[in-house]
Amino acid sequence: MILDIINKKRLGLELSYQELSQAFNGFLNGDVYDYQMSSLLMAICINGMTDDEIFSLTKIFIDSGDVLDFSDIPGIKVDKHSTGGIGDKTTLVIAPIVASCGVPVIKMSGRGLGYTGGTIDKLESIPGYRVDLSDEEIIKQVHDINLVVTGQTADLVPMDKAIYALRDVTATVSSIPLIASSIMSKKIAGGSDKILIDIKVGNGALLTNEEDAKKLSDLMIKIGKVYHKEVRTMISDMNVPLGNRIGNSLEVLEAIDVLKGEEKNNNFVDLCFDLSSEMISMGLNISKEDALQLVNKSIEDQSAYAKFVEMVNYQNGDISKIKVGKNQYQVLAKKSGVLTKLHALELGKLSLALGSGKVYIDDKIDYSVGIYLKKQLGDLVKKGDVLAVLYYNDKLPKIEYNKIFTID
Ligand code: URA
Repeated sequence: MILDIINKKRLGLELSYQELSQAFNGFLNGDVYDYQMSSLLMAICINGMTDDEIFSLTKIFIDSGDVLDFSDIPGIKVDKHSTGGIGDKTTLVIAPIVASCGVPVIKMSGRGLGYTGGTIDKLESIPGYRVDLSDEEIIKQVHDINLVVTGQTADLVPMDKAIYALRDVTATVSSIPLIASSIMSKKIAGGSDKILIDIKVGNGALLTNEEDAKKLSDLMIKIGKVYHKEVRTMISDMNVPLGNRIGNSLEVLEAIDVLKGEEKNNNFVDLCFDLSSEMISMGLNISKEDALQLVNKSIEDQSAYAKFVEMVNYQNGDISKIKVGKNQYQVLAKKSGVLTKLHALELGKLSLALGSGKVYIDDKIDYSVGIYLKKQLGDLVKKGDVLAVLYYNDKLPKIEYNKIFTID
């Protein structure tokens, strides 16, 4: 009985594979109602799960859909996943860098969640770009150009889609066991040989402290071992946004600038170089130092940028048609000093209020709106300097200046 299962978890006892399967598969086929699943998820959130429970849940998630097989494609396929943040457009930069260095990349990305943007929404800001490739199209494209970034196919871990939607509205998103099985089930079903996870920590991330990030990292590595997949993790800061642009089309344009070598020396570029070197080291079995040299070369000789353009063209996109909001509003510094706060979460909220993401399920995203930060954390600013430019079309939302910026 589902009530016995919920009660057992409420008391902090371990659930068997059969009990978890009965509850979760029951939810997917309609025998368990969403209020019962919500209650079980909250009990999991509060009491946690043992490693065995997490392994069982991950298997139940994977078995709910297709497991892709890319073994026909030569080379070690390396996938990467970020737990999500503000201004996080790393996939747009690292996927072409890694592919141009000879490692096949098949990346199935997701949409935005809450205040954080999603890679697929960003790519859709490129007019024409297809994010709905079939398994056959994915395989053909990797064979042809070594690189695909598309949306998750409908049959990839359908359990995660159903459970995630419920977690999103029941305050059960930030449970470490639930995050681990959600991400790892998708990565394992996604068919890559090795996996790199970028775990974000800070006010603009799901996890706000380093201890939780380490727990999540250990768990993901353990789940990888069960499936004989090498998993590496990196823990990176999400108290300030990544790079200088937030919002779909603005972020694509920033990624293009980085790939062309025109944008350098900020937290986003550093993270991209770090993640790409790690992926190349995994894919080519070489040291991270040697991999970094390949990364630098791919930017200098523009091969990474050429690979990005090749992918966009292959997926029907046209970068010359990317649009940004028709109106601009400058946010000016109210005093002189050093910029000591650039609050990621508050900037994420402002970008959402501009229309770059969804508040309600039926909302339409405005791909062209967003924020262009003109000063970075630690910069010296003078009163009246432009701190940020907001791109918008219709209405300008309220700007919570004091929550976003601090100048000392
Ligand atoms: N990203 C996911 O795919 N799942 C989670 O649970 C959290 C972040």
